[in-house]
Amino acid sequence: MEINGKTRTCGLIGNPVEHTLSPIIHNTLAELFGHNLVYVPFPVKEGGLAEAVAGASALQLLGLNVTVPYKSDVIPFLRKVDSLAASIGAVNTLVSIPGGYKGYNTDMEGLYRAMMTEGIRLADEEIILLGAGGASRAVAYLCAVKGAKRVYLLNRTVDRAKQVAKEVNASVEREVIVPVALSDYDSLPERKLLAIQGTSVGLSPHEDQAVIEDEAFYRRVHTGFDLIYSPWETRFMKLVKKNGGQAYNGLKMLLYQGVIAYELWNGVKVSDQEAQIVYDKLKARFAGPSD
Ligand code: ATR
Repeated sequence: MEINGKTRTCGLIGNPVEHTLSPIIHNTLAELFGHNLVYVPFPVKEGGLAEAVAGASALQLLGLNVTVPYKSDVIPFLRKVDSLAASIGAVNTLVSIPGGYKGYNTDMEGLYRAMMTEGIRLADEEIILLGAGGASRAVAYLCAVKGAKRVYLLNRTVDRAKQVAKEVNASVEREVIVPVALSDYDSLPERKLLAIQGTSVGLSPHEDQAVIEDEAFYRRVHTGFDLIYSPWETRFMKLVKKNGGQAYNGLKMLLYQGVIAYELWNGVKVSDQEAQIVYDKLKARFAGPSD
């Protein structure tokens, strides 16, 4: 693509941004669609967020992604916030609207679409969710909003799980999230359930760790979805597979959060085939086995 006087710019604000894979996603999509668009990282130092958003608006940047540590802090600087993002309290995508930006949470919509493409349902399901930090809290909202029957929210610090359950249940006006101490996993139903791994345990370089080691737990899991994608196959995933379940890593979630942002910025629909081309490029970054 030739960069010229009509090139539109999108980018990522965060700190740090050096390791982002998002330029691969958006610049590949721009190439596939023949859009005159570039996507670049913009490191924003502490204290610089308000100026960054105002500056982006002044420069008429088409859209931005937002990453750590600004996903919640950015909200006061937006003109509008989508309802799912508002209830989660975190925004990762800004879309240019008259006078500023509207914030969305495509992380969660991306997780949802990744699961849909793998045939994993949330509606009417009983789900085990491991962790109650920022990532798992957002997943708890997603499961509740998408109609899960029940979510057993397991966390080492049970008070944190109770807090998330209280917030989400109040927001959706039903008792969908059930807080459980991580050590009490034995109290879960004997049936096989979907388990979503949202803790930081197992993240590279601590690849030899899983938040629960006991194989008796994994015998209750028919499908394990880890939000982590580095390493390619986490110990959680290995334990799920060893006990007869299907296991997925978080790379498709990363893919689809980007795909949905791209769709919002450009008013297009990315096909499964186009998404697969981007996925293959992302996957080439990992020395994992093929799937
Ligand atoms: P994020 O925003 O990525 O979710 P976070 O808010 O720091 O990060 O949350 C990390 C999650 O991993 C929490 O659920 C944390 O459990 P606690 O709330 O008890 O701290 C969980 N976690 C991290 N290390 C853990 C460990 N060694 N064992 C069990 N859970 C762990």
